[in-house]
Amino acid sequence: MINDKKVLFSGMQATGNLTLGNYLGALKNWISLSDEFECFYCVVDEHSITVRQDPATLRKRARLLMEIYIAAGLDPEKNTIYYQSHVPQHAELMWILNCFTYMGELNRMTQFKDKSAKHADNINAGLFTYPVLMAADILLYQTDLVPVGIDQKQHLELARTIAERMNNIYGPVFTVPEGYYPKIGAKIMSLQDPAHKMSKSDENPNGSIYLMDDADTVARKCRRAVTDSEGVILYRDEQPGIKNLLDIYCACNGKTPEMAVAEFEGKGYGVLKDAVAESVNAILSPLQARVKELDQDKDYMDKIILDNADKASYYASKTLRKVQKKIGYPERPRRK
Ligand code: TRP
Repeated sequence: MINDKKVLFSGMQATGNLTLGNYLGALKNWISLSDEFECFYCVVDEHSITVRQDPATLRKRARLLMEIYIAAGLDPEKNTIYYQSHVPQHAELMWILNCFTYMGELNRMTQFKDKSAKHADNINAGLFTYPVLMAADILLYQTDLVPVGIDQKQHLELARTIAERMNNIYGPVFTVPEGYYPKIGAKIMSLQDPAHKMSKSDENPNGSIYLMDDADTVARKCRRAVTDSEGVILYRDEQPGIKNLLDIYCACNGKTPEMAVAEFEGKGYGVLKDAVAESVNAILSPLQARVKELDQDKDYMDKIILDNADKASYYASKTLRKVQKKIGYPERPRRK
């Protein structure tokens, strides 16, 4: 607990371009949580280097992600929004947790298996211990709740296992975090393959709407979206492409699928696609304008970045010191 509130932690990678799916499925929900919880939102740039990155691109994207967090409505005074690499306690705690995590546990991680298949020429140790760094992220803040997608559930389970293991050995060290899966929040699928989630790592750029796409690009991608030959607009699993378009439409303007189906009754797919593009753009244009403003206000951003890293460090070092003491690191004498 911090300030009598439960602690909530989540993070996003700065790799790839954030998609509408990241916004509607995650970011948008985060905004509604800041009153109820003490929230930490991290740009996990240390996780990013588990696959090879171009330094300039990584730096630019990390900055953009920070700006998107704020532009989307996360108040940097209420939430702690920071770069993982600015808070050295993450990597330090990770070392300790490494010594309490078994090879067998990491070997079972499906994301490791997927990523090593995908990057067969760069199966580095960081890719293998990625979940341990994620556990450190979470446990450093004595986190109660972690909003994550289903794809990160296995990693979260591992964080719980490590926390429980250390608590069993040393007495209470860590809060054991729970996954937090808000009921609201749409699962947005690829526009080109509605059986798969819209993903920032999708190779086909037409499958994803990126948060920085301009209005024409959004319209073009919507028009190209894969549909079917049924010719009716209904909200059902047999029409995954149409269902996804309706989900996007509804998530953007707060309508229910029933309302949307009624609205498009008797209309063609083209009408739906244009309406989807319009409602997406109604969200993206103000977001992009705000990102641009933030990007030009270097002094403001620098202050936010510094203040929030300090705040994160303050809480992180409390936990780290506690752990170091428990495991028997020598006490550091105070300078007189
Ligand atoms: N691995 C997460 C992802 O790719 C990102 C992440 C890193 C994270 N550390 C975290 C998410 C801690 C939640 C909590 O989506």
